[in-house]
Amino acid sequence: MIPLRSGERQARIVAGVGTSHVPAIGAALDNGKTESSYWKPLFDQFEPAREWIAKEKPDVCIIVYNDHAHAFDLSATATFSIGTCEEFLPADEGYGPRPIPVIQGDPRLAWHIAESLVMDEFDMTIVNDMTVDHGLTVPLSILFDQPDAWPCKVIPFMVNVVQYPQPTGLRCYKLGKALRKAIETYDKDLKVMVIGTGGLSHQLQGQRAGLINDAFDQKFLDDLQNDPMAVTKVTHAEWLRETGSEGIEAIMWLIMRGALDEQVEEVYRFTHCPASSTNYGMTILQNNSKAEMTSH
Ligand code: DHB
Ligand code: FE
Repeated sequence: MIPLRSGERQARIVAGVGTSHVPAIGAALDNGKTESSYWKPLFDQFEPAREWIAKEKPDVCIIVYNDHAHAFDLSATATFSIGTCEEFLPADEGYGPRPIPVIQGDPRLAWHIAESLVMDEFDMTIVNDMTVDHGLTVPLSILFDQPDAWPCKVIPFMVNVVQYPQPTGLRCYKLGKALRKAIETYDKDLKVMVIGTGGLSHQLQGQRAGLINDAFDQKFLDDLQNDPMAVTKVTHAEWLRETGSEGIEAIMWLIMRGALDEQVEEVYRFTHCPASSTNYGMTILQNNSKAEMTSH
C-alpha cells in the first residue's frame, strides 16, 4: 500500500450512521403501509435523516451488517467479510426478493479496502458472488426511501454476530480504525459514509422473546458518541443478558464509530419502541474534521 502524498486527491469519511435493520420496516414500505397508525410515527422520524443525507450526497456507503443466513448458511461462517461485486441483488428471505433497485457496488474501492485491511492484519473474507438481505436493504430504504435507483454505490461489509464465537467490541472498533486508514489511502476523491446496522435491544425467540432494555440502549447511544471505549468493554454475556439474544447486532456500530474522528458531532438521534420486536435506534455522527477535509 503506497501512502498518498499530501495534496493528492483521496477518499474521506464524512459521517457515520447507526440504524436498526428491522425487516418489517422494509415490508411496510414495499406494501404501502407507511401511513398506518403503527408505522407513521416511526417513518416520520426518518424524515430529518433523509433530508440530511440528501444534502450530504455520499458517493459510497459502506454498510456494516450481519447476513441472517440468507447469502451464507452455517456450512461456513466468516467473522468479517466484504462484498467486491459490481452489483448486489436483494435476497429472497421467504416472500420473494424485495422490489428495490439493484444495488451498485464499487469493486475497485472494495478490493482496495480488502487489501489495506489484510495488510493491517484483519483477515477479511472476500465475497465475489452474493445477495444482500434485510440487514443491508432496510437501512438503504430507511435513508433513501423508494428511489428509481440508489443515489450512491454500496459496499457490503459483513460481520458474524449469528454464530458463536462472535467478535469482540474492541476488535470491531479497531477494525473501524483500519477501515478509515484504508479509505483515506484510496486515490479517488470520494465522500464515504459508514453505516452501522442492527440492534438495538431485541430477542426474537425463547422465554425472553420481546425483551427491550431502553436504559441500556440510551447509554449505548451516549457512549458510542462520547466514550466508545466504554462500549468495547461490554462483554458477550452482558450483551446477551442486557439486550436479548439479538441485541449484540449493535456491536457492529463500533466499526462505524472506529472509522470516525475521536470527537464527533451527533447531528440526529432518536429511538422508537416497538418497531416489530426491536427498540429501533438511529444516530448520525458527523466528523468534526469534515469542513477541513472537504476543502481540498
Ligand atoms: C427483527 C429485527 C432484526 O434485526 C432482525 O434481523 C429480524 C427481525 C424484528 O424486530 O422483528
Ligand atoms: Fe438483524
